[in-house]
Amino acid sequence: MSQAQRSSAAATVPNDLESFWLPFTANRAFKKSPRLIVRAKDMYYYTADGRAVIDAAAGMWCTNAGHNRDPIVAAIQRQAAELDYAPGFQFSHPKAFELASRIAALAPADLDHVFFVNSGSEAVDTALKIALAYHNVRGEAARTRLIGRERGYHGVGFGGTSVGGIVANRRHFGAMLAGVDHLPHTYNREQQAFTKGEPEWGAHLADELERIAALHDPSTIAAVIVEPMAGSTGVLPAPKGYLPRLRAICDKYGILLVFDEVITGFGRLGYAFAAERYGVVPDMITFAKGVTSGSVPMGGVLVRKPIYDAFMRGPQHMVELFHGYTYSAHPLACAAGLATLDLYRDEKLFERAKALEGKWADAAMGLKGLPGVLDIRPIGLVVGIDLASRPDAVGQRGFEIMDRAFHQENMTLRAVGDTLALTPPLIVTEAQIGEMFDKVGKLIRAVA
Ligand SMILES: Cc1ncc(COP(=O)(O)O)c(C=O)c1O
Repeated sequence: MSQAQRSSAAATVPNDLESFWLPFTANRAFKKSPRLIVRAKDMYYYTADGRAVIDAAAGMWCTNAGHNRDPIVAAIQRQAAELDYAPGFQFSHPKAFELASRIAALAPADLDHVFFVNSGSEAVDTALKIALAYHNVRGEAARTRLIGRERGYHGVGFGGTSVGGIVANRRHFGAMLAGVDHLPHTYNREQQAFTKGEPEWGAHLADELERIAALHDPSTIAAVIVEPMAGSTGVLPAPKGYLPRLRAICDKYGILLVFDEVITGFGRLGYAFAAERYGVVPDMITFAKGVTSGSVPMGGVLVRKPIYDAFMRGPQHMVELFHGYTYSAHPLACAAGLATLDLYRDEKLFERAKALEGKWADAAMGLKGLPGVLDIRPIGLVVGIDLASRPDAVGQRGFEIMDRAFHQENMTLRAVGDTLALTPPLIVTEAQIGEMFDKVGKLIRAVA
């Protein structure tokens, strides 16, 4: 780090930590021992005191191309100087169309249309609203029920919280949306522990949709939303055959299937979208995070052509869908998105993730047998590692590892309770994979 970088980093260290209420954070613990990052490049963060910290979490599952990549930085800078903002309702700007076409080209089948938003949460709520409105404009207004899944994470809007299935994210927020039901989650440690990739056991759990459909009558169900790999709950890959089975049941009853690919989109599982990995075409795909490699907030919903077409009728001067955000398709996000997609293509980063998957899984499985390791679930460039909880202190071991990783081992990772999640930028090298798992092994022993 140069002297100039060091002094500018020092100037960014705050002297008052009180005002900022950090999201999804143990605020009091953080403020006693802050984990502050002042700069980043490629695979590394840098702290104010000049430590290089390897990023084993791709930010938060988002910086798939690595941090502060020059072409993305330059694109954002150019765009900021050229067009800061263009209204998104009744006006637009060329890069919004260009990015939508590029994303649609990456998506399977006739997922041809893109509705832009600013986050994964907005993408989910948008997809749920499009599902309801789609049935409505086709004269099936009785289809109002939305089906999520236990342990699912779909962001923090009321729609996403309602279909989500992580108890801690729901319990303080009242009754939420009416008419929501949940599929069972797909995890069973006895049947699935230490599986690389998709577990053999669990496809039959999709049949629970039959039961739910029978209970409510299928004609009242608008959509089913699932993550192809449940990420935030601690990495639960879909069992083999589960997603095709869900697709078949949705088809049978005219229910829309939404894949929430906010994490799995843009290379995380070795494909542009996980839909391609599983050979299943959903009716909508939600995305965010990797679309700009985390550099500017952006999300969106990919929509199949017949859904879009269903709205394109009535008087031509009329708004077809009464929904959108001030910053939908923001010029800076579009510029960042285009530069990011170029990088993914030019550096073949999705293919790289696929090629590294086996080595990644082997390295992760090297932790098997360490004290308290109950399960290891690698898939794509992701792994979830379950640790035994301390009696009466659930989550403490995970928290300690996350905190020590940053302060002592110069690494960031995610901890969900006592499950560790690693999910590095797709530019990670084999040597860096080795380094990450060595550090995790050391940390697991340290908190045993
Ligand atoms: C599958 C999924 N959906 C939605 C979201 C919410 O995204 P955001 O935090 O950008 O609102 C996330 C975030 O992790 C996610 O993993």
